[in-house]
Parts: sequence; C-alpha cells; structure tokens
Amino acid sequence: MSSQDQELWSKLTIRSFDPVGDLDDFMVWASDERVPKYCFWDAVKSKEEAVEYINQNVINHPYYKVICLNNRAIGVISLQFNGGNDRCRCGVGYALGSRYWGKGIAAWAVKTLVSTTFEERPELERIEAFVDVENIGSMKVLEKVGFTREGVLRKYFIVKRRTRDMVLFSFLRTDIPQRGRG
Ligand SMILES: CC(C)(COP(=O)(O)OP(=O)(O)OC[C@H]1O[C@@H](n2cnc3c(N)ncnc32)[C@H](O)[C@@H]1OP(=O)(O)O)[C@@H](O)C(=O)NCCC(=O)NCCS
Repeated sequence: MSSQDQELWSKLTIRSFDPVGDLDDFMVWASDERVPKYCFWDAVKSKEEAVEYINQNVINHPYYKVICLNNRAIGVISLQFNGGNDRCRCGVGYALGSRYWGKGIAAWAVKTLVSTTFEERPELERIEAFVDVENIGSMKVLEKVGFTREGVLRKYFIVKRRTRDMVLFSFLRTDIPQRGRG
C-alpha cells in the first residue's frame, strides 16, 4: 500500500447518517444523474426532493450509513437484513459521489462493513449483492473484496423501466481470511 493510499484510508470512516447535518453532502451524490444509473432510485432535483427521499427511505432504514472523508459524507453504504428463514443472509448496496470514483474507496467501505457485520451479527452467514450486468465498476469492487460471482439472474429486476439481468455475488462468513497461528 502506498503512503498516498495510507493517507486516504486514515481519513475515511463509516458512520450513521445525520439527516440535517449531512443534507448538503447528500445532495452532491444524490442529485448527480450518473450515480443512480444502475440503482432503483432516481437522482433528486432539489433539496425538497432530497428531504422527501430521506424521510421516506432513509430515516427508518435499519442500516443506512455514510462513507465519510474527513467526516464529510461522500457516499452511502447500506445493508438489508432479512428475517425468518432468510435471516442467515443480508444484502449490501453502496454509492459514491462521482468525484471520488476510482480511488478504491468503495472497496475499502465494503471490506470494512463485511468484517464488522460478521462480528456484530453472529447469526449471519452470507452477505450478497445484486449488480447490473453492465455495472463493471461495481463488480470489480466486489471481486477486489473477495466476493464470489455466483451467476446471472436473467430478467430479475426492473430498474428505470428496463428489466435487467443481474449478477449475484456473495461473501460467506467462512470466506474471511483466517489469521495465521503464531
Ligand atoms: C460502483 C462504485 C461504488 C465504485 O466505487 P469506486 O470507489 O470507484 O470503486 P473502487 O475504486 O473501489 O473500484 C472500482 C474498480 O472498477 C474499475 N472501474 C470502474 N468503472 C469501470 C468500467 N466502466 N470499466 C472497467 N473498470 C471500471 C476502477 O478502475 C477500479 O478498478 P481498480 O481498482 O483496478 O483501479 C461507484 O462507481 C459508484 O458509486 N457508482 C454509482 C452507484 C452504483 O452503481 N452502485 C453500485 C450498485 S450495485
């Protein structure tokens, strides 16, 4: 790891979203059309729309965190937990402001969350992600972290009025690298 990388990592954190204090930073990525290209949500066009989105989708979300650089929110990472017979797995989703793409930040955030989530949730055995077949950057993120590409789910989700093929990725608790015995 270069010293430049180390400097970047030391400034990155993941924390809870503050609906008031993070609103302006939220607007930066949430209003950029390029960010939700492969996501269910649409870019917001005003602060009012952002507040409405936050009230409807974020405030009561069980696990919606922001990725921060120097404590300023530059993106989001969220987990969707399941109940009942599906409680062994959860889904992960993430997005970053476009000026921060290509620096390894999403891979850092997913790796960090994977390890803390398995520690915090003993019942969890699997974290999974569904990625649009055209979203190469997102697939690279998951591959870098060590997720396994399980296959393509054809015509699986409707995203922005188009029915999309999705690649399913997973990371199991048993995929966590074991520390050497010393
Ligand atoms: C997907 C996303 C989170 C990746 O974030 P990031 O911080 O740029 O990711 P990383 O830098 O950790 O890794 C991305 C890798 O993919 C590569 N990449 C990105 N777009 C690519 C493309 N279109 N074709 C080929 N490679 C691409 C980058 O060069 C990088 O590779 P490298 O590590 O070998 O240099 C970011 O682009 C984003 O927020 N996109 C919009 C939201 C989104 O699609 N979220 C995922 C929904 S499943």
